Amino acid sequence: MGLVSSVSRRLMPFGLPLRVQFPPDHLLDSRPLEKLTVEQLEARTHRLEKLENLYHKGHDLAWDGKKLLAQLVKKHGRIELPQEKKEAIANVFSVILWGELAAWEVASFLAERIRDNSEAKMAATIQTFDEARHYYVMRDYLRLREIELPPPNAFVKSMLVQLITTDSALFKLIGMQLFVEHVAVHLFKAIADTHVEPVLSALMPYFGRDEARHVGLGKLYLPDVLSKISRREAIELQAYQLWLMSFMQLSMELHRKDADVLGIDLQASLRRAMREQSRMLDEIASHPRVRGLIVLPERLRFLNRWFIENVWASGDGAQEGALTKPWMLGARGTAVRVAVRAWGAIA
Ligand SMILES: [Fe+2]
Ligand SMILES: [Fe+2]
Repeated sequence: MGLVSSVSRRLMPFGLPLRVQFPPDHLLDSRPLEKLTVEQLEARTHRLEKLENLYHKGHDLAWDGKKLLAQLVKKHGRIELPQEKKEAIANVFSVILWGELAAWEVASFLAERIRDNSEAKMAATIQTFDEARHYYVMRDYLRLREIELPPPNAFVKSMLVQLITTDSALFKLIGMQLFVEHVAVHLFKAIADTHVEPVLSALMPYFGRDEARHVGLGKLYLPDVLSKISRREAIELQAYQLWLMSFMQLSMELHRKDADVLGIDLQASLRRAMREQSRMLDEIASHPRVRGLIVLPERLRFLNRWFIENVWASGDGAQEGALTKPWMLGARGTAVRVAVRAWGAIA
């Protein structure tokens, strides 16, 4: 046995073992591998068309980051930012730049690992190009404005490390495509609206449009993945969503001062992102492939609703009964301080 496996290992570079299923012929067959009802089949065909379209759209709408940045810098000239604003941008972009790198890695993982259809693989492939562009444009912008980034805060670091190291396509799709990408869309919009720096404000909508397509990959591909998950994975996924939302909130607490300096309402951005995510979960839950099979979207929506109505309820849209009484806010502040200290000591 030992001899056989040792020989097999040595022959690997020459194309062995031959037991790996290649080529994947099912990719050429428009019919799915599993048995589906007529309704499920129609919905699947429609979804696959949309997934492939994400690739073509991404191709058609790809922008030249080097050219765009050069044009904007030429248009707006040299800008001296006050030190306070420069520091606030550095702190916020210590989250965003590394978030782009993580999104790039997640997209390339999905492009490699999705094997059940080529349409989702294509969508993940074009996202990989988009994220590489987002990363280098932000990197070049920060160099240009001589903005030095501090390390990302411990909560964001944990979330990003988890996202790039997990081997689960399901967690990557829920965590990156449906959670982080949604938050990014609204954060980029908020930064664009502040007009804190003209080049940055002009760049953000380009990023935001791409991120909206990336959310589409999660929405369109998740029904296939969710239809196959076990009860245990469903429970783990709810715990994961709760963890993501708690850590995102704790991370935002650390950037409250930066947000004030830049004039961004982080709570409102999170609330909008989660409302949209909830709407998307509704759509996924009503999909014929998932409907009735799992109650997961309903449970994730419950978590979202609870956070939106309680934790993120400050400012506009605060709900009756939200955690907004002075003693509740005090308790929340203490809990945040304890969590920040504890996690700061561990991470
Ligand atoms: Fe991005
Ligand atoms: Fe993205």
